[in-house]
Amino acid sequence: MASGMKTEQAGDGFPRHVAIILDGNGRWAKQRGLPRTAGHSAGSENFRKIAYYCRDIGLDYLTVYAFSTENWKRPMEEVRTIMRLLGKYLHEAIETMERDGIKMRVFGDVSGLPGELQELVARTNEISEHYDGFQANICLNYGGRAELIQAAERYARDFRDGVVSEPLTEERFGSYLYSAGIPDPDLLIRPGGELRISNFLLWQCAYSEFYFTDVLWPDFTTGELDRAIAAYMNRDRRYGGLR
Ligand code: FPP
Repeated sequence: MASGMKTEQAGDGFPRHVAIILDGNGRWAKQRGLPRTAGHSAGSENFRKIAYYCRDIGLDYLTVYAFSTENWKRPMEEVRTIMRLLGKYLHEAIETMERDGIKMRVFGDVSGLPGELQELVARTNEISEHYDGFQANICLNYGGRAELIQAAERYARDFRDGVVSEPLTEERFGSYLYSAGIPDPDLLIRPGGELRISNFLLWQCAYSEFYFTDVLWPDFTTGELDRAIAAYMNRDRRYGGLR
């Protein structure tokens, strides 16, 4: 399905926001007799391709889970490679994102990332403020429970300091999350064959439609994304009500 899919056939049922758990890089590499790090490299290139495609078909947001608060447990060499790939990606994005009409935001505890990466994140945020367009959100050092705790702590602080006095509503709580101002994902895709959410966007996915596939992330093509979106568009979203 080519770009323009949204206008050609989607109508109201087309998703605005798709979230993806980038899973299966290690197995992809193993299948080819390569080190796991080669899988992450292929995975990061695939992210670039899929992000452009999401922009072209008219999505507003793509949110990907690239590095969780639990991923620090991996061997140091693997963590280092992932950080290096993220740095390379952000570095290149800084040069091209405005021209390409892509905004970026990082969700997660940026203070726990290497200093160089923190600077690149700050720079991409700064650039993204100046224009509108498709937005890619990269979850780095991110965990859904940790996100909820930091939001609760920040709200409690604001309440104590008199910055807010109104009772806590779902909407207000949402404004303390990394995803503040961004609509919840309509569709959550997990490639790689696992059937779990792995601490990803726990609050935001309350009513998301889930799509699982055995395809490993580096093999996840634009055609796979089309299939996931087509499946989503056939779902009946009721948000707890009746049709
Ligand atoms: C999960 O696959 C993947 C990760 C923990 C890292 C994802 C990171 C990247 C794709 C690199 C940088 C990303 C961007 C957005 C530029 P896995 O290692 O758990 O695979 P496995 O389950 O097959 O072992």
